[in-house]
Amino acid sequence: MHQRPVLAANWKMNLGPSAATAFVRAFLPLHAARDERTVIFFPPAISFAAVHAATRARPDIRLGVQNVHTDEKGAFTGETSAGMAADAGASYVLVGHSERRHVFGETEAESARKCARVVEHGLIPVLCVGETIEQRERGETESVVLHQLRTGLSALTHEAVREAIIAYEPVWAIGTGRTATPDDAAAVHRVIRAALVRLVGESGATIPILYGGSVTPANAAALLAADQVDGVLVGGASLDAANWAAICAAGIEPGN
Ligand code: PGA
Repeated sequence: MHQRPVLAANWKMNLGPSAATAFVRAFLPLHAARDERTVIFFPPAISFAAVHAATRARPDIRLGVQNVHTDEKGAFTGETSAGMAADAGASYVLVGHSERRHVFGETEAESARKCARVVEHGLIPVLCVGETIEQRERGETESVVLHQLRTGLSALTHEAVREAIIAYEPVWAIGTGRTATPDDAAAVHRVIRAALVRLVGESGATIPILYGGSVTPANAAALLAADQVDGVLVGGASLDAANWAAICAAGIEPGN
């Protein structure tokens, strides 16, 4: 953990407006505002307004949406645009999450267009990259991750890339209880870091790279301590207020 860590909760398709409000009410007293940590919630779009209202008194809590469409507006039933997300009060957008890629067939070209759209609206993309178990076993982890990274960022200026966040989420670790070890995570994070520095120069060293995939209160501190791991993106364990508060405080000595 080498800079202000980012703790991001991806609720996926869980917690409607009432449950989301109850969650935030339970979580906030458990989590003191900390200047040195960035906590971001990614609620489902339909719960966004409820979470926004419930966190109004806590500007330390940041909000994002889980997905946006590549286009600005139009006949795209069920979709949300980046402009709408900005208008609703979002600051971040998840782009290219593995469920978007593998369940909904989102292509790398679409991830690139989404990143561009997100930046156009003054939002920060959290670009997710990660290999499947088959790709890892074939020794393709590095090439897959770098291809997703380069393509996803390809429509952004260097300035926008410097503001972005990257999340490394090995597909085999998401929702499976099978976490990458801190060493496994660090190895891929170093590859991503080197690519970012090659792309935008020295300032690539400060772009946050989050790890995601079965992060829990039990393993969060060790992952956050790994080389080049600047935060975590958490699904399942972010759905329980006490667990999420424990992850948000992971690695902090009691009394600090
Ligand atoms: P998980 O999900 O923590 O439930 O593995 C992580 C993610 O998909 O962002």
